[in-house]
Amino acid sequence: MAKTIRWGIIGIGKIAEKFATDLVNVPDTELHAVASTSSERAENFAKKFNVPHFYSSYEEIFNAPGLDVVYIATPHTAHASAAILCLNNKIPVLCEKPFAMNLKEVQQMVEAARANDTFLMEAMWTRFIPAIEKTLELIAEDRIGKVKTIQADFGFVAPHIPERRVLNPALGGGALLDIGIYPAYLALLILGYPIDVQAFTIAGKTGVDETTSFVFRYPQATAMLNATYATRTRTEALIYGEKGYIHLPERFHETKTLTLFETDNEPVTFSFNRETRGYNYEIEEVNNCVRHNKKESVKMPLSMSVKLISLLDDIRQKAGIFYEGIDG
Ligand SMILES: NC(=O)c1ccc[n+]([C@@H]2O[C@H](COP(=O)([O-])OP(=O)(O)OC[C@H]3O[C@@H](n4cnc5c(N)ncnc54)[C@H](OP(=O)(O)O)[C@@H]3O)[C@@H](O)[C@H]2O)c1
Repeated sequence: MAKTIRWGIIGIGKIAEKFATDLVNVPDTELHAVASTSSERAENFAKKFNVPHFYSSYEEIFNAPGLDVVYIATPHTAHASAAILCLNNKIPVLCEKPFAMNLKEVQQMVEAARANDTFLMEAMWTRFIPAIEKTLELIAEDRIGKVKTIQADFGFVAPHIPERRVLNPALGGGALLDIGIYPAYLALLILGYPIDVQAFTIAGKTGVDETTSFVFRYPQATAMLNATYATRTRTEALIYGEKGYIHLPERFHETKTLTLFETDNEPVTFSFNRETRGYNYEIEEVNNCVRHNKKESVKMPLSMSVKLISLLDDIRQKAGIFYEGIDG
């Protein structure tokens, strides 16, 4: 039997609830502790998910006996401080995307992980979704030939609640860091770091980027990508190669199916049904890393997170998206 991995969660909001729903169904995994800025929220969450230890400050979570790993689910602006707090207490960390607000913060997190010889991973769950694994396999098998262009988008209408994380500049709000990260990551995963980036943005009422469109240029390929809170887009991805293409349908970053279109063959659809929301795959990856005392995931290494945040910094710089008090 595998060792049970005891998880803690820091920050109880929307994603913490969804993540916990998947976590409690992963074998040999226990939701062991939860920390919130609100004692009421901590207690209610603990009752709902049967969590034995709950705290009304983040620092207290380290009092939970036998804690193996912490999942950080705060707004982006509080990722780096919470991650470094855990790492300095030698507690492995899975931290929500975007890993932090900019490269400088991510470098501080990576330094803390290395200095404490402790596991750290960005919660880029898309990397572990079976349809994405299959996509990488099909490309490696040369089923669509050399990838020449990628199109991907992510869009929904964000309700106008200015104080909430999504639209609040003080909490790192804006479409690019929240959802544009998924098309950016897909292009990075498949084509690598571009040689040129162009980007344009339209600000919403609260000043955060409401729509950001960006194009990556590679020596022999391009990627055309979009993120918006202004309209519901198809949120799909198309990966075009010399011999065919792969379609990842709505919502591509968590899709359960994909279709392979080869030039001389009938299209083939691959399905990966699941009962879960899909967070179980990244949870299993972290469990395995922690069980084997690994300091990084091979599939989502820290070098990838450094590239991803550098790319987001590049896009922001090109588009003119700045966060007061965070960007120098
Ligand atoms: N992987 C995914 O599918 C996915 C989906 C949605 C969001 N996310 C990511 O998860 C993170 C959280 O998103 P969310 O939608 O869950 O946010 P949310 O609903 O606003 O919850 C964030 C929680 O963080 C805590 N917090 C700490 N500092 C805060 C501050 N200054 N202001 C407000 N809350 C603060 C609060 O919990 P306590 O008071 O209990 O500490 C709050 O409830 C974001 O970085 C986002 O990008 C990922």
